[in-house]
Amino acid sequence: MIVITGATGSIGRALAGRLRGHDALAVVRRPADDLGIPYAQADFDTPATIGALLSPGDRLFLNSSLWPGVIDAQRAVIDLAARAGVAQIVAVSVRGAAPGARLGMGMHAQIDAHLRKSGVPYTILQPSGFMQNLPRDFGDGTMYGSYGPAPVNYIDARDIADVAAALLTGPVGASSEHVLTGPESLSHEEIAERIGRAVGRPVRYVNLPAPEMAAHLERQGIPRPHSGDLAALMAETGDGSWAPVTTAVEDLTGRPPRGLADYLADHESAFA
Ligand SMILES: NC(=O)c1ccc[n+]([C@@H]2O[C@H](COP(=O)([O-])OP(=O)(O)OC[C@H]3O[C@@H](n4cnc5c(N)ncnc54)[C@H](OP(=O)(O)O)[C@@H]3O)[C@@H](O)[C@H]2O)c1
Repeated sequence: MIVITGATGSIGRALAGRLRGHDALAVVRRPADDLGIPYAQADFDTPATIGALLSPGDRLFLNSSLWPGVIDAQRAVIDLAARAGVAQIVAVSVRGAAPGARLGMGMHAQIDAHLRKSGVPYTILQPSGFMQNLPRDFGDGTMYGSYGPAPVNYIDARDIADVAAALLTGPVGASSEHVLTGPESLSHEEIAERIGRAVGRPVRYVNLPAPEMAAHLERQGIPRPHSGDLAALMAETGDGSWAPVTTAVEDLTGRPPRGLADYLADHESAFA
């Protein structure tokens, strides 16, 4: 059986859709009748509830949003998966995950390290930022950020789901790690311009120095030091380090990743 955690999220929902017709189970916190596959209710905050769903030979998609307890929760689920005899774990990490890195990149590094030592065959997916964030970021027509003029890569979360589906339904191969990107990297001004053209109204990106961005985030209710870390992370990803694209999506699925034009064509209403 293929067990999908985070099944109601932007990757998980698409993955559940790809796995209709397979022996797949969605792990959800609340009833979710619209996923198209059977579901079971469980919670990372009580890892044993997820462990209880796992049997020898299962394949596990390890994915959730981030909260302060996520490192312990995902590590506990990895241990339970090893004990249950799970055949493979495909885990969602993040591009740039590294020990001591900021925010999610540092958290994922700790989970990734635990998975590498688990003894379970694994694939770690390290995606760029998701295009699915753009409607939120440009919601009222203006996105504020500290990315500067450098190109930054975004990936359509549906491509991460396609990669995961290929890995979870094919033979379990050697453990591996992949940086997943979209096909092109654009500056935030270019992204704003393309969204504006697609939705037929002006959309703009306003660049702020990191300290001003941190103050802007605080006014929006994000407390210190998180606000400062988020602004600093934007400046760091805008230094060009998130610009290179990889061939991983095409290597693993046999077709190139979706571009921003594909995403916008399918999600225009999300910007309404
Ligand atoms: N967003 C990005 O741009 C981006 C970029 C690179 C990597 N990533 C990584 O991708 C992963 C997914 O991130 P996301 O923000 O995009 O997630 P998301 O789409 O918001 O989905 C998160 C999923 O996790 C589930 N979840 C959260 N807490 C849970 C818990 N305690 N127990 C069980 N399920 C729980 C949510 O369920 P509910 O519906 O019940 O809340 C939801 O299904 C994260 O590891 C993130 O670091 C994200």
